[in-house]
Amino acid sequence: MTEVPIDEIKSNTLENPAARILGIETSCDETAAAVVENGCDILSSAVASQVDLHAQFGGIFPEVASRQHILAIYPIVDQALRDAHLKLADLDGIAVTRGPGLPGSLVVGINMAKGLAIGSDLPLLGINHLEGHLYSAWLREEGKKKKKAPQFPLLALIVSGGHTELILMKDHLVYDRLGGTLDDAAGEAFDKVARLLDLGYPGGPAIQNEAECGNPKAFEFPRAWLDDSLNFSFSGLKTAVLRTVQQLKKQKSTLPKADLAASFQAAVVEVLFQKTLQAAEEFGTKDILIAGGVSANNALRHKFTSQRKYKVHIPPLSLCTDNAAMIAGVGCYRFFAGQRDDLEMDAAPTWSIADL
Ligand code: KG4
Ligand code: ZN
Repeated sequence: MTEVPIDEIKSNTLENPAARILGIETSCDETAAAVVENGCDILSSAVASQVDLHAQFGGIFPEVASRQHILAIYPIVDQALRDAHLKLADLDGIAVTRGPGLPGSLVVGINMAKGLAIGSDLPLLGINHLEGHLYSAWLREEGKKKKKAPQFPLLALIVSGGHTELILMKDHLVYDRLGGTLDDAAGEAFDKVARLLDLGYPGGPAIQNEAECGNPKAFEFPRAWLDDSLNFSFSGLKTAVLRTVQQLKKQKSTLPKADLAASFQAAVVEVLFQKTLQAAEEFGTKDILIAGGVSANNALRHKFTSQRKYKVHIPPLSLCTDNAAMIAGVGCYRFFAGQRDDLEMDAAPTWSIADL
């Protein structure tokens, strides 16, 4: 990857030059393609979700995911270009998720992007999926009013199916990783607890729905504060829910699923909220950004937007879970920063945001 000259990004502010980037995302169970202009305007965003396919297994089946990406990738890219009323020749670059993600899924998107880059002579840009989640906060849905962009330095919480990360974002494309989960990611905990309660897959929305008529104080589930460090741990909480369920089943009681879901959700939300505020306080940031699939959670959104001390940026619901607009969005910023990748670029399944 070419080095990113940060000063160039500042002189090439995205209000001035125009860049239209095609983004491709196949890191997990969504096949997605999108065209974004200048890092904020979504010209098109097409997503083919595999959720129904994986729901029958109760989780993601990697081989099934790759096969499905192969079937969906051409029609999805085609749809993104048609919806944007653009041809490849109208674009400035092709951005694709390099990682982190499932190796067999990532290569489908990467090979598609390489093929398009060769055929159209457009630059290829490999993008970190988590960085994509962060940049979903700069995107504007079609027809929606311009909103105030997040201000630097800002404190970012990424909460997805595979990651829980606290990041200090000092400027565009400049990150310090402050902490992350030591075991399960927040989304993974939602998915596992949903399975335990037989609520189906994906677990996050299922727990949220069940929790709606539950009492969040019904069960005192543990919160792992880890000596006030900026790391997270959700495996103890998951085990506590498991033990409670086992005990209730032994007593032959009907499972109070709504109370269990609400109490579990409250424990996750409280830890995510307190630690993010603690980090914002420690690093003196005024803005907070939350992104990733779990940022679609109502209780989490409500908790953050109910406080007045920090300006909170959360992507619209459609951009919280995996999509390609966020990859194209970062692609615009990295295009202006001078990033160009060559055809040797391969998948980076464990790529940490700390290595950017
Ligand atoms: O960011 P994402 O779409 O994919 C990854 O990069 O992992 O996140 C998916 C995760 C899943 O674990 C899913 O259960 C969770 O986000 N999720 C939610 C909600 N919607 C999706 N978790 C809690 N509440 C939700 N409403
Ligand atoms: Zn994601």
